[in-house]
Amino acid sequence: MVRLPLQCVLWGCLLSTVLLVSPTPCRKNQYQINNQCCDLCPPGERLTTDCTEGTQTKCSPCEQDEFSNTWNREPRCHQHKYCDPNLGLREWSKGTSETDTTCACQEGKHCSSHACERCTPHTSCPAGYGVKQMATEVSDTICEPCPDGFFSNTSSASESCQPWTSCEAQNLVVLRAGTNKTDVRCGSHDRKRVLLLIPVVLVALMTVLLVSVYIRKVIRRSGSKGEINTKRQDPVETEDLPGHNTAAPVQETLHGCQPVTQEDGKESRIAVQEHQ
Ligand SMILES: *[C@@H]1O[C@H](CO)[C@@H](O)[C@H](O)[C@H]1NC(C)=O
Ligand SMILES: *[C@@H]1O[C@H](CO)[C@@H](O)[C@H](O)[C@H]1NC(C)=O
Repeated sequence: MVRLPLQCVLWGCLLSTVLLVSPTPCRKNQYQINNQCCDLCPPGERLTTDCTEGTQTKCSPCEQDEFSNTWNREPRCHQHKYCDPNLGLREWSKGTSETDTTCACQEGKHCSSHACERCTPHTSCPAGYGVKQMATEVSDTICEPCPDGFFSNTSSASESCQPWTSCEAQNLVVLRAGTNKTDVRCGSHDRKRVLLLIPVVLVALMTVLLVSVYIRKVIRRSGSKGEINTKRQDPVETEDLPGHNTAAPVQETLHGCQPVTQEDGKESRIAVQEHQ
């Protein structure tokens, strides 16, 4: 009495194997409807009418701005994608009856997602960082810190780290070391020496100036005595001499006038001397 169920299982296995091997009797690019096989519509077309026993499948081409990219039995084609400029998009390739339009981002922007439904501006690498890989329509900028010997002094989405200027190559010396944000500053050997010499020269100049002023003062003091002696008839001019020097000329002048002024002169001379 175990025979019947076993037979059933066997038949079941056979049947299901047959069904799995050929789930539908239709050929490739056909579909089954009402127990018969109809041809699918090719890419670029859509289904208008299913086939019947006596007629083939009726298809019609996609409209302008529409496409179908597979063998299909769809009643409608798909609308071409619209690249919305307000989202930063532009048309990358125009769609055909068999392919969709593809969008890309406008200059300076990249897709924010794989499907490129909207765009975001490229990242700029700040000073101290350089562009390792420039952004594309679909990927953002990749920045890297400037390694030793390189610098970047601008925020930029296109500039990589620049190597420091080689002062040696120009037969110059380094005046100021470079950083990751600034270039090396070069100068001539002379210039470096001049820079070092500036304080020394300044001190020397000051010394010379002070000494010369002092010497001139001394010369003027001693020189004015002799000068006035030769110009004794001009007392007015001598009174114009500045500072305590005035006393001496007046004295000298009076002394020079002594023979002329006599008694009065003597009195005034004494008065001047008392003033001193
Ligand atoms: C640049 O150099 C400074 C000083 O050495 C350092 O602190 C800074 O992290 C560096 N920046 C980058 C981007 O490497
Ligand atoms: C950056 O460095 C370059 C080369 O040394 C220099 O010509 C430029 O003026 C610098 N720009 C700024 C903003 O410092």
